[in-house]
Order: sequence, then C-alpha cells, then structure tokens
Amino acid sequence: MLGEKPSKRDGHPTPTSTRVASVIEDLVNVGDFARAAEERLEAGVRGYFFGGAGDELTLAENVAAWSGWRLRPRALAGLSSWSTKAELFGGEVSMPVLVAPVAYQALVDPEGEAAMARAAAAEGAVMCLSTLATMRPGPVAEAAPGGRRWFQLYCFEDAGVTRALVDEAVSCDYEAIVVTVDAPRGGNRERDRRSGFEIPAEVGVPSVEAALGSGRAVTIEETFGLMDPALSWSDLGELAAGCAVPVLVKGVVTAADAALAVEHGAAGIVVSNHGGRQLDRCVATAEALPEVVEAVSGRAAVLVDGGIRRGVDVAIALALGADAVLVGRPALWGLAAGGEAGARRVLEILRAELELTLALCGCATPAELSRGHLRRAPAASVYSA
Ligand SMILES: Cc1cc2nc3c(=O)[nH]c(=O)nc-3n(C[C@H](O)[C@H](O)[C@H](O)COP(=O)(O)O)c2cc1C
Repeated sequence: MLGEKPSKRDGHPTPTSTRVASVIEDLVNVGDFARAAEERLEAGVRGYFFGGAGDELTLAENVAAWSGWRLRPRALAGLSSWSTKAELFGGEVSMPVLVAPVAYQALVDPEGEAAMARAAAAEGAVMCLSTLATMRPGPVAEAAPGGRRWFQLYCFEDAGVTRALVDEAVSCDYEAIVVTVDAPRGGNRERDRRSGFEIPAEVGVPSVEAALGSGRAVTIEETFGLMDPALSWSDLGELAAGCAVPVLVKGVVTAADAALAVEHGAAGIVVSNHGGRQLDRCVATAEALPEVVEAVSGRAAVLVDGGIRRGVDVAIALALGADAVLVGRPALWGLAAGGEAGARRVLEILRAELELTLALCGCATPAELSRGHLRRAPAASVYSA
C-alpha cells in the first residue's frame, strides 16, 4: 500500500503525493495500471481483485470480445472540437463512463471508496457504490461533495434489510439503485481458494451491519448467506414501484431478461456478467449487448460493463447502442497503483482515448456514434496464416 515507508531522494524524504505522482506519471494506458497494481498488491488481494470464476474464460472473453469489431470512420467531418460529454438520467456527465460497484476497496487503499468517489467526482464521472463497500453511503458522499453517485444493491431475504439499504442510499442523495441479479450464489473463485484468501475479519461492510442492526463485522460468507437467492421478477417490480429513484438491473445478458426488466419497471439495464466472476462460460458482454439493445428498443437506458480497457472499447459499446459503460477493474487498478490520483488518471486516460476515437471517427460527440461506424472484425485465421 502507498504512503507507508518514506522513500529518500538525495537524503531527503520524498512527500507521499510526489511519490504517487512519480509512480503513475509513466503509466500511459489501463494495461500499465494493471501491471503496476499487480506489482503492488499482496498475492491474496491480487487474486481477489484480478480473478474470475472457474477457468476464467468469460473473464478473458469479456476483454477479447470488444476486439471483435472494427470501426468505419467517416472523413472530412468539418470538426475542430470534440466533446465526450453525455446525458444520463437527465444529468450531464463528462463522459459516458461510470465507476462500477466493486466491493472492499479499503483492501487496496486506506481511503478506499472515499478516494474512489473523489476521483470520480474530479473527473465528472458517476460512481456506483457497492453494498459490500467498506464505507457507508453518507461518508462517501461527504468525501466527494458535488459528485454524482448511484448505489448498487444486493437484495436480502429479510426485506427490511433491503429497504434499510435503499433508504440510506436515497437519503444520502444517491441518484439511482442498481440491483445486481447475477449472484444468487457466489461464483467459484479458484484463485481465492488456492491462495486461501479471506477478507480480513476487521474489514466489514458497515451498511449491511447497520441494516442488520448488528454491532459487529459480518463476514462475506455470512453476508452472502443472508441474501435472497430466490429473488424473482415480481420482487424486482415491487422494489422498482416503491423506489423514489430510478432502479437499474445489473447482470442481464439476454433479450428475454432485458424485456422482463423493462416490463417490471427497470429504468435501465446493465449488461454484465459481473466481470466474469460469477458464471464462467457466460456470454461475453460485447456479444450480449446488441440483443439487449434491440429488446429494450429505447424503453430504458442500456449500460454495459466487462472488459472495457480502452476508449475505443467505450466507442464500440456506444456504437452498438449502449448509453454508457462501467469500468470495474480499471478504476480499481488505478486506486491500487496510485490511490485517488491513480483512479483519477485511469478515468482521464479513458476520456482522452474516447475523445481521440471520436475525432478520428468524424464524430463531435458520443451520441453521434452509430451502428454504421462498425463492422465485424475479420476471422482471426485470415491474419494468422
Ligand atoms: C473485485 C471485484 C468486486 C466486485 N464487487 C461487486 C459488487 O460488490 N457488486 C456488484 O454488483 N458487482 C461487483 N463487481 C462487478 C463489477 O461491478 C463489474 O460488473 C465488473 O468489474 C466489470 O468488469 P471489469 O472489471 O472487466 O470492468 C466486482 C468486480 C470485481 C473485480
């Protein structure tokens, strides 16, 4: 972790902020941040944040699938300025890239979700806070006044617990509730089983503890044990109907479920397979996105996450019809490599890459990207001969 040992240059201690800056200034893309994070994290924590389920086929395909498309840029568009700004649920964002909900961020940075929220606010991006965050919604909001925030919800068997989580987030001005539906049980994370990794006992999930009325830290196993594996579409419908803010459904990869989500009141769908951490061999999100866009047909917002590592991946998602994307590991790698400044730099890189892609495609804004800018990549065999 950063900021523990003072390093010395010419016999003088180097301030932490300077060292962080020097660590991240040479990192030019998200892949560089992944490598820096890999070096800095202890093996068990590294496996938890980098890993996926089973053979990690879906984890790998999520990334690879964005390369399954090629861009068809338009020339002489007569543009001299470009903007990555976009509209999301009636509010402006600096770019259609959100920070995905990622649990236990204090494991990679002492300021955890507060540092991530500040980074997102500084970059004008929405941050989605996990139910399994190491901070409650209130202190995260206070850490980044002016930032836009959504709350990711796991539903509990005790509806009172679920309601308490929603009420707390809404009362702290979280603008949307994102219900995760791809985790009726935890995925088979073999890296964690091999390393014997366990969330340290002192790292709790304070929102869940408060909602349960428990005075002690609850383990991840206990927390998953209290969630509702039998959640149904009618439960979702009741939640959406009774919620003061828009409800999105995260973890949908089929047209059929997208249609059901809209019918049950979802204001948005997040096409997601949990970053390949739940069902291994699940379809990659870039492959699932077109059928969801078609099924939703403008009746709700469509967002997508999984494997987005470049601004060009964002552009492809938008051209396929997504309203926005979320990034999980990239923001986390930024936080692990350089704290708040690192997470901020990752978002800045993605925005700069997206802006360049827009310019080179002949688009002034993200909204101008369309299916006409895409064609399927040729079969790999054409080039591998
Ligand atoms: C370490 C880790 C923890 C996560 N925790 C949550 C969570 O608490 N709730 C949730 O809905 N999704 C969670 N996710 C999934 C992310 O929200 C997101 O769907 C995924 O990371 C996107 O893929 P990417 O990492 O390739 O960007 C987690 C992902 C990772 C890597």
